[in-house]
Amino acid sequence: MRGTVWMGLGALVVVALLLMGAGCAPRATPTPTATPAEATPVAAVTPEVRIREVPFEQEWLSSAHADAKAEAFRHWDQESPPEIPVQCAKCHSAYGFLDFLGVDGSPAGAVDQPAAIGSVIDCVTCHNSATQTMDRVTMPSGVEIAGLGPEARCMQCHQGRASSQDVEKAIQEAGVEVDQVGEKLSFINIHYYAAAAIKYGTVAKGGYQ
Ligand code: HEC
Ligand code: HEC
Ligand code: HEC
Repeated sequence: MRGTVWMGLGALVVVALLLMGAGCAPRATPTPTATPAEATPVAAVTPEVRIREVPFEQEWLSSAHADAKAEAFRHWDQESPPEIPVQCAKCHSAYGFLDFLGVDGSPAGAVDQPAAIGSVIDCVTCHNSATQTMDRVTMPSGVEIAGLGPEARCMQCHQGRASSQDVEKAIQEAGVEVDQVGEKLSFINIHYYAAAAIKYGTVAKGGYQ
């Protein structure tokens, strides 16, 4: 009986010592809990742990959105004052888009002021508190397309700038019947890369039917 108790106690002591040993181990051989100053340079670690690399940075850098020399971002450089007008800023400037989204504190759904030149479509233009949950887009026709996913942000800029309504209005103002040639009628430009208007065809009413 007694022997068993002592054996039991002895086992406990051994277990306790083992546990203490385990607890002490890190102090004996310090784990590499690097402070920022002694952090391993990115280049020195294996690709698997390159956690400091900005995701998709290379892809973005090679995209048209990052092309700071493009006409789409430089068109207003020689204006006086050199700024991007309210009608153009939503799609041609990071500042203008954040203004449109209301991320800059201004009302959402409209650009309130001309935008500074010198920006491109950068990470924050697409990734911000508004775009995270944005699920609807109003097309130039006034039609709202809802139930969208992450593509909503693309559709804000790649939606064109004209629609069926502009054609209706032009016909009305020219005072002609539909299909009648009118001297006052001229080309209506939907603008560039209106991919969303094309994709949503008759729903978006980007063209004239
Ligand atoms: C709804 C969004 C939107 C608005 C508003 C808008 N644009 Fe654009 N614009 C675009 C997109 C998208 C392109 C990209 C075309 C491309 O990849 O070259 C573009 C391209 C351009 C280009 C470059 C064309 C080229 O040859 O590369 C110019 C210049 C331009 N727009 C002028 C304007 C002006 C001026 C305004 C305002 C009166 C304006 N845009 C308003 C979306 C817009
Ligand atoms: C033209 C718009 C646009 C730009 C510019 C852009 N992104 Fe994205 N990004 C998206 C979309 C759309 C997705 C896919 C949907 C999502 O996850 O939000 C995405 C996905 C991501 C994801 C994956 C999110 C996840 O949950 O897995 C990361 C990370 C990311 N982007 C980082 C960046 C960084 C960093 C930049 C700048 C170097 C950048 N993005 C520039 C539109 C953009
Ligand atoms: C804030 C406005 C804006 C948003 C948001 C935006 N784009 Fe763009 N996009 C532009 C402008 C402006 C250009 C023209 C840039 C240039 O000429 O270098 C462009 C160019 C492009 C091009 C290159 C077209 C070419 O010239 O070959 C593609 C493709 C494209 N965008 C796709 C997308 C996709 C996909 C998304 C969403 C993930 C998106 N864009 C979101 C404004 C925008």
